[in-house]
Amino acid sequence: MKIGVFDSGAGGLSVVKSLLDHHLFEEIIYYGDTARVPYGPKDANTVIRYALEALEFFNNFNIDLLITACNTVSAYAITEMQGKASYPVVGVIEPGIKALENSLTDKDAPILIIGTRATIASKRYQDALELLGYQNLTARQTGLFVSMVEEGIFEGSLLYETMEHYFKEIDTPQAIILGCTHFPLISDAIRGYFDDKPTLIHSGEAIVEYLEETHGIREKAEETKLSIYASDNVEGLRAIAKRWLKD
Ligand code: DGL
Repeated sequence: MKIGVFDSGAGGLSVVKSLLDHHLFEEIIYYGDTARVPYGPKDANTVIRYALEALEFFNNFNIDLLITACNTVSAYAITEMQGKASYPVVGVIEPGIKALENSLTDKDAPILIIGTRATIASKRYQDALELLGYQNLTARQTGLFVSMVEEGIFEGSLLYETMEHYFKEIDTPQAIILGCTHFPLISDAIRGYFDDKPTLIHSGEAIVEYLEETHGIREKAEETKLSIYASDNVEGLRAIAKRWLKD
């Protein structure tokens, strides 16, 4: 299968990493809208417009499936994208919810949801979890983490201070939904902050599980050809990909 992966910028490479690790596809076309990242502080209408414009980019490629790695796009624009595209479009929110459900049966367990301002404001994760009966939810926008990851800050005192800023009033959760493409890159630090106790839900791993469960897609590609495109500074994005995807 030849698929597209769309993200607002570089963060979606964390999802690509999982797709590569599990050898799911023969070909991946990655498109990052680096000219307009971040989407997280933007309004729903803007995110929807950008997402529909991204579909035009993928028109050039004859893909079989599109994954929107970006949580912010998944929160606001997935239905609109599905309405316009001639191939299936899969977001990361439903897979994240399913992964949480698979790993946490206790409906009273404390769950922390973190993401961009837009993702948290959309309440997509919170509403879906409430519908499933989870009662103990805390949601926090943690937008500064995006800039830190972009700067290559994956540990250290600055990151610790930022976690302290966002988390100091939160009791240790049993699970944390990493509702943003960038957060898997600081997952060790986030788990460490909570004494390595919480289970972390990572969009990339969640989508691999979801594609198998719902689309019957499982490990089979011997090799994956990955092509990276961007709306700005494609060389910069390719350099990040080399670093983030290296092992
Ligand atoms: N890709 C975005 C997300 O997962 C984070 C970066 C941004 O704000 O555009 O929500």
